[in-house]
Amino acid sequence: MQPRVFPAMYWFITFIAMIFLCGSTLVFANDDEKYVNCGKLFDCGDIKGVGYPFSGSNRPDYCGHPELKLDCSDQDLEITIQKVTYKVLGINNQSRTLRIARKDHAENNICPTLLLNTTWIPNLLNYTSDDRNITIHYDCPAQGAPTLPFSSEFPCNINSTEMTGYFTAVSNLSEFGSSASNLISYLASCKDSIEVPVLQSALAKISSTPTETQLLEILKEGFDFVWTANDSLCETCKASGGQCGYNQTTAAFSCYCKDGPQESSCPQSPTAAPSPTAAKSPSMSSCLLLFFSAGVTLEVNRKTA
Ligand SMILES: *[C@@H]1O[C@H](CO)[C@@H](O)[C@H](O)[C@H]1NC(C)=O
Ligand SMILES: *[C@@H]1O[C@H](CO)[C@@H](O)[C@H](O)[C@H]1NC(C)=O
Ligand SMILES: *[C@@H]1O[C@H](CO)[C@@H](O)[C@H](O)[C@H]1NC(C)=O
Ligand SMILES: *[C@@H]1O[C@H](CO)[C@@H](O)[C@H](O)[C@H]1NC(C)=O
Ligand SMILES: *[C@@H]1O[C@H](CO)[C@@H](O)[C@H](O)[C@H]1NC(C)=O
Ligand SMILES: *[C@@H]1O[C@H](CO)[C@@H](O)[C@H](O)[C@H]1NC(C)=O
Ligand SMILES: *[C@@H]1O[C@H](CO)[C@@H](O)[C@H](O)[C@H]1NC(C)=O
Ligand SMILES: *[C@@H]1O[C@H](CO)[C@@H](O)[C@H](O)[C@H]1NC(C)=O
Repeated sequence: MQPRVFPAMYWFITFIAMIFLCGSTLVFANDDEKYVNCGKLFDCGDIKGVGYPFSGSNRPDYCGHPELKLDCSDQDLEITIQKVTYKVLGINNQSRTLRIARKDHAENNICPTLLLNTTWIPNLLNYTSDDRNITIHYDCPAQGAPTLPFSSEFPCNINSTEMTGYFTAVSNLSEFGSSASNLISYLASCKDSIEVPVLQSALAKISSTPTETQLLEILKEGFDFVWTANDSLCETCKASGGQCGYNQTTAAFSCYCKDGPQESSCPQSPTAAPSPTAAKSPSMSSCLLLFFSAGVTLEVNRKTA
């Protein structure tokens, strides 16, 4: 008579192995995590249903382009493009435009500590035909600012230093002929300048002798950037049942399908697509069946031996 401890131990080990192995086939059969996560849209304040090519909030980095990572804090949506932080005022999925205003301007500050230009990103973010530039000069001579239409001086305090600022909404000063030459030489002695895009429609609100308040008002209306983020690849991907994303390792578009990422579209199964649960159960039951039959075979062999 053999002691009963061996079969008991055998069945116990088999049971543990079964849990692990059959459990893992179950996980494999589940929808890919990236597919699930990138199918989610998020809301932030008044901006609803943010999806590809943006990431942020509940959308992990791999769901969007690395330069289009949004940050939602206190119901304010923000994006940082080349070191400058902007408040997102709107996202238009049809025209693929992003309306943004510089965060410092949105907070009524036209004299920020860091003077940085707004920069576009070739092949990703570009200005639209509605954008115009305003040039803001800093640290100008305190005396002798000439007056020209659509231009004005304003007081500034940066790094605890009082200074004179000057802005002009005129894109080509030369158009004002000789009356602009004084201004051109005055502005040449300002230490810094930045170009800030504004909407052409907002420019109309500035009077010919504008105030600092008027300037801030139009800056707060923001401007548009149009994005180009492999939109046709994304459409192909979505049409095949996938979710659009971006692989930062390969720096390429990625199409996340139910059973894993693909380059551009999800493979279409040749037979009628089975429901997710039906697809799952055979692998689970065949796994269990395999263990039981192996167990029974061994048990029978042991007994006959
Ligand atoms: C915007 O378009 C993207 C890409 O086609 C899509 O993933 C997202 O769901 C759309 N968002 C809304 C609010 O329609
Ligand atoms: C203000 O000070 C900071 C820190 O020293 C410096 O980086 C920045 O350029 C200064 N700003 C201006 C406009 O001089
Ligand atoms: C960016 O936009 C400008 C005008 O809006 C256009 O002339 C230019 O071709 C665009 N550049 C790219 C790379 O699309
Ligand atoms: C505004 O200025 C930027 C930077 O100098 C430039 O790239 C852009 O084309 C300008 N936009 C317009 C509408 O002139
Ligand atoms: C600015 O205006 C002057 C005079 O009208 C013109 O000769 C010049 O080409 C313009 N410059 C630009 C950059 O448009
Ligand atoms: C911003 O861009 C303008 C025009 O391109 C340039 O003259 C100016 O020096 C730039 N300012 C900064 C702070 O980089
Ligand atoms: C990116 O591509 C690499 C190489 O193909 C792969 O190992 C990685 O899992 C991919 N990452 C994502 C987020 O798809
Ligand atoms: C578009 O896709 C190509 C190939 O996947 C990639 O190299 C490129 O960086 C993508 N561009 C953008 C703006 O996502």
